Amino acid sequence: MKRVFSGIQPTGNIHIGNYLGALKQFVELQDNSDCIYCIVDLHSITVPQDPKKLRESIRNVAALYLAVGVDPKKSTVFVQSDVPGHSELSWILTCCSYTGELSRMTQFKQKSKEKESAPTGLFMYPVLMAADILLYDTQIVPVGDDQKQHIELTRDLAVRINGKYGKDTLVVPEGKYMKSGARIMALDEPTNKMSKSAENEFSRISLLDPPNKIKKAIMRATTDSDGEVRFDVENKPGISNLLSIYSVFSGISIEQLEKKYQGSGYGDFKKDLVEVVVDALAPIQQKYNDVMESGELDKILKEGAEKAGAIAQKTLRRVKENFGLGL
Ligand code: TYM
Repeated sequence: MKRVFSGIQPTGNIHIGNYLGALKQFVELQDNSDCIYCIVDLHSITVPQDPKKLRESIRNVAALYLAVGVDPKKSTVFVQSDVPGHSELSWILTCCSYTGELSRMTQFKQKSKEKESAPTGLFMYPVLMAADILLYDTQIVPVGDDQKQHIELTRDLAVRINGKYGKDTLVVPEGKYMKSGARIMALDEPTNKMSKSAENEFSRISLLDPPNKIKKAIMRATTDSDGEVRFDVENKPGISNLLSIYSVFSGISIEQLEKKYQGSGYGDFKKDLVEVVVDALAPIQQKYNDVMESGELDKILKEGAEKAGAIAQKTLRRVKENFGLGL
């Protein structure tokens, strides 16, 4: 069975982009792969966090993993900071990385706004992400499009280290991306990706949003003025994004949707989309509440950390041996 690893930052507002780009793949992969899914809390402190809210967020994201269908009997679910190996391997990888390649990371450039001085954690973040992946001899990493550059860096680091310290040191992983859903755009500005942290809450649909908020966000979504329901990302980014969302949630192809809404305006299309999204999220929200009430979360995360920790120890022992570290 192939080893799969992925993670999501516990920074609130997990949205349909996270779901369609990543979480949906988590669930699909768990039947025929050995899956490890992490709540990457060490990543979220690259920007200041309120400690109480962060702890709450960690549990919320863990509950959402289970709510969308990640099954702790099939997959390992745990919190990153519960396994110290992530930080340890991260240092070893840091010593094999270059400031040049890290400065070229698009996300760093955007988040640091190209200022002369930026938080060091933001700069080092892709190395920690590489450590997360390489720590588990991961073969497949299901993620959204925006993580492609970080996956490439991870591969570069693994290949570089294997070249110097022996080819059995690290497993070189591959990214896995959805055909549709890998890049869901913001509803208010469909040329930007949907994000957890955007100020306008109507720019996204969060998995736990109530129906009236979903309705508002979709009815307000930016579209163009020609009124034709047609997929054309370049000229009609707003409607194309809504078509993608409709298609992946309903299972109806984009071509079929274009036919269905030929001649009708955006109003009808949006009204139907509201229903599709509300219906798709209702069972997730129900399951989320069940998980939160069940009181099982802590036990699942504790067991997950033990399982993950044992795998991590094995990899670290091998890496340290090949590097000549320790006694
Ligand atoms: P994060 O927490 O920003 O996002 C979690 C996952 O959701 C995907 N995603 C999207 N997919 C489609 N459309 C969007 N608008 C959208 N926004 C986010 C992301 O690609 C991601 O798969 N660095 C990672 C977390 C991480 C990680 C890892 C992932 C840390 N270590 C190791 C995989 C393996 C991040 O910040 O994702």
